[in-house]
Amino acid sequence: MNDSKFPPNTNRVAEHIVGLPKSGIRDFFELVNAMDDVISLGIGEPDFMTPWHIREASIYALENGHTSYTSNLGLLSLRKEICRYVKSNYAVEYDPVSECIVTVGVSEGLDLLLRAIINPGDEIIYHEPCYVSYAPGIQMAHGIPVVVPTYEKNDFALDPADLKKAITPKSKAILLNFPCNPTGATMPLDKLKEVAQIAIDNDILVIADEIYSELTYEGEHISIASLPGMRERTIFLHGFSKAYAMTGYRIAYACGPVDIIDAMMNIHQYSMLCAPINGQEAALEALRNGKTEMMRMKYEYRDRRNVITKRLNEMGLKCFKPVGAFYVFPNITSSGLSSNEFATRLLNEQNVAVVPGGAFGKCGEGFVRCAYAASIDNIVEAMDRIALFLKR
Ligand SMILES: Cc1ncc(COP(=O)(O)O)c(C=O)c1O
Repeated sequence: MNDSKFPPNTNRVAEHIVGLPKSGIRDFFELVNAMDDVISLGIGEPDFMTPWHIREASIYALENGHTSYTSNLGLLSLRKEICRYVKSNYAVEYDPVSECIVTVGVSEGLDLLLRAIINPGDEIIYHEPCYVSYAPGIQMAHGIPVVVPTYEKNDFALDPADLKKAITPKSKAILLNFPCNPTGATMPLDKLKEVAQIAIDNDILVIADEIYSELTYEGEHISIASLPGMRERTIFLHGFSKAYAMTGYRIAYACGPVDIIDAMMNIHQYSMLCAPINGQEAALEALRNGKTEMMRMKYEYRDRRNVITKRLNEMGLKCFKPVGAFYVFPNITSSGLSSNEFATRLLNEQNVAVVPGGAFGKCGEGFVRCAYAASIDNIVEAMDRIALFLKR
């Protein structure tokens, strides 16, 4: 007998969707949400509120009755400002009319892009541990995710030799995310140049998810799009969620070659139509006047990073000092626990939430992700509790 409220026929949901794994982070946060008094180093979201002048700009936009659709590509004023910002910060020039599209988060930008470029069976190469949406996003677009592991011994930078081994005649694109979620890794320039050369030699596209790039604490972030021969094969994805603490506004953008932006635009106009006007007005204000506040948050993240990295290493949870994003990725194998056991027991015994590294891919096993998007007091308290947890 079929007790389920669904009919026995199982083909109601498409095969490639049925097969999608559930996000390990979601499961874990179901547990966290059910508990009180948890110090969370789990969420990959700024703890800062969106700076007031940005919020005020969106209130002002509403007061002025700006409640309509915008151009499918996004407000031209915003696209112009984005292209100015990208040119001055990333040294790549794009035409705001034809080479830039405003999207609903990098999430939508990535989805549009994958759907725009993938023919069924095309391979998209990406590095792990990585942001949880990459593999499912590729699968949802009927592509084949191809993993290149990154290693602690390289501070989780991508080794070009490993990348080379993953290339096949079916390779369509390489998806890069530096600074990286969950490891905080960045790419040394010489290695980035090698990756660029591999893309050129094999005539494949590069998807550059540089959403954390402003949060680079030492040295300068170099976009792969700015390297010789790369502009025409790179799609630069960026947004306002992280550096400007604007996750809820859902505004991001993609810049790239006309044919690809045009294809993304085609999908966008029939699915999302446009990004919300209120968020676009807020993003415009962020680009025009947001630098001081953004830098203030950045310096605070840097100070927190220094504290958390020092404390974790002192208690034997080895981690390199990440140069970017707001994550550290300590090795927890000295505890004798798997990353899942570590995170679950830490939560149950000390009310501290961190994310098991396995949620970010197989090679994340043996690590946990700690986001330092939490106040310094909370970070210090969380470190005290982790030290106690390890002693016990
Ligand atoms: C690497 C990476 N890319 C993209 C996103 C999604 O960002 P958005 O809020 O712009 O959709 C995230 C969010 O955590 C992320 O970590």
